[in-house]
This record gives sequence, C-alpha cells and structure tokens, in this order.
Amino acid sequence: MTVIIRNASTSDITHIKSILSQYILETELVEENVDWFIVAEKEGKVVGCACLDNSAGVIELRSIAVLPAWKNNGIGRRLFKTLEQRAKGMTDRIYVRTTARGFFVKMGFKALDNSQKPVLWQDCADCDKFDVCMQVPMVLELR
Ligand SMILES: CC(C)(COP(=O)(O)OP(=O)(O)OC[C@H]1O[C@@H](n2cnc3c(N)ncnc32)[C@H](O)[C@@H]1OP(=O)(O)O)[C@@H](O)C(=O)NCCC(=O)NCCS
Repeated sequence: MTVIIRNASTSDITHIKSILSQYILETELVEENVDWFIVAEKEGKVVGCACLDNSAGVIELRSIAVLPAWKNNGIGRRLFKTLEQRAKGMTDRIYVRTTARGFFVKMGFKALDNSQKPVLWQDCADCDKFDVCMQVPMVLELR
C-alpha cells in the first residue's frame, strides 16, 4: 500500500473536514490552520490528516484521523511520526487531548491528571462541559 504523507494545501480543506466530521472532531478551524496540517494520500485520495497547533501556548497534536476503511494500516502512526519529527525543532514536549488514549499510549504518550486540563488550556477552563468531557490529557516528552 503506497501512502504519501505530505503538507496540506487549501485544496485539501474539504477532504480534511469530511474525515474529521466522521468522528465528530472539530472542523471550524481547519481553514485558519491548514498550514499546520499534513495529510495521508492514497492513489490521489486523502485518507487521513493530522495537525500541530500552538495557538494555546503549548504544542498540541490535534485532528489526527484516518478514514474508517484505512484504519489499522499504520497510517495514524506515520502521520504522528511526521509531526513528532517536526515538533522536535519547536518544543520539548507534545500534548494531546484525546479519547483515543490507547493509540497515544502506543506512540509513547503518558496520561496526565484531568486537573491539568484547565491549567494547560484556557478553553478547558472556560468549558461548561468540563465535568463530562471524556478527553484525556496526555504528554510526550521529546528529550
Ligand atoms: C486514532 C487513529 C488516528 C489511529 O490511526 P490508525 O491508522 O488506525 O493507527 P495505526 O494503524 O497507525 O496504529 C498504530 C498502533 O496503534 C494501535 N491503535 C490504533 N488505534 C488504537 C486505539 N484507538 N486504541 C488502542 N490502540 C490503537 C494499533 O493497533 C497499532 O498498534 P501496533 O503498532 O501494536 O500494531 C484512528 O483510529 C482514528 O482515526 N480514530 C478516530 C479519530 C480519533 O479519535 N482521533 C484522535 C483525535 S485526538
């Protein structure tokens, strides 16, 4: 299976939003952040995406998703590894807020206490769904 990992461009925005929507992941900021996205492409079709975000003052891996038909083929790992390499030039650690805890454990992340979420992220501090939110905060030390 030949899968290319490449930087996203504006022509990928619709495809990225379509993938994220399948998992009810946030799509509102894709246009604004498209320069931070990478995509996985298989025979001309975008089958996965991921992004590094530094808008909250910490480097956060966001919006990693692979189309259902292509899951469990190593594409998520390749997307992650590409962004991990990129992050190494920018920071000492990568954060994530996720419901896919098992995947990120495989990638070397460690879970943080839930109480860290409002400390690390203002949107968590301001969120009225904080008490019911299933997203686990996790960190990967790069050095
Ligand atoms: C999480 C996701 C991106 C992983 O992509 P993928 O291409 O299926 O993952 P890979 O095939 O590269 O898997 C790498 C390893 O992680 C494991 N893995 C993948 N998803 C997992 C999960 N949800 N829980 C536990 N382990 C998982 C795989 O079994 C594999 O393990 P191995 O190396 O021992 O064989 C994909 O499942 C997905 O799109 N999930 C829905 C969207 C989502 O929740 N994204 C997280 C947003 S923060």
